[in-house]
Amino acid sequence: MSNRTFTMIKPDAMADGHAGAILDQIIKAGFKIVAMKQTRLSIEKAGDFYAVHKERPFFGELTEFMSSGPIVAAILEKENAVADFRTLIGATNPANAEEGTIRKRFARSVGENAVHGSDSDENAAIEGNFFFSAFERF
Ligand code: RTP
Ligand code: MG
Repeated sequence: MSNRTFTMIKPDAMADGHAGAILDQIIKAGFKIVAMKQTRLSIEKAGDFYAVHKERPFFGELTEFMSSGPIVAAILEKENAVADFRTLIGATNPANAEEGTIRKRFARSVGENAVHGSDSDENAAIEGNFFFSAFERF
């Protein structure tokens, strides 16, 4: 079990002004921010990041959305980080997300769902490396 996960605050939540409230909820839930930056993905970079979904019907929509505006990317540290963070963000579709979860509170829809959270320790490491060098981690 690794103690790190990776997250992005997606363009919908950034545009809706929820970045501060989302980071506050993440910190209050006990996650430490190891690395963080605001950036914007090109459509190609978004496609690289979500390459596992290349064959899915929503891939075009997903990469267009993820490159539509700035995001905040972060590496988070906590015991049992991957699973605990997935619990904190709630189901992919906010309509099915538990009350009080980040997606229930802030997501617009299943496609524009406010935050990303890694789904395994292996992907958490790959995704953190996609955005951050060793010099950007504290
Ligand atoms: P994420 O990777 O962003 O944390 O989301 P997730 O694990 O909960 O969901 P995943 O199955 O990995 O899907 C990745 C993202 O693709 C978009 N999506 N749209 N229109 C749709 O039916 C649909 N399904 C998925 C969402 O932005 C989802 O978070
Ligand atoms: Mg996923």
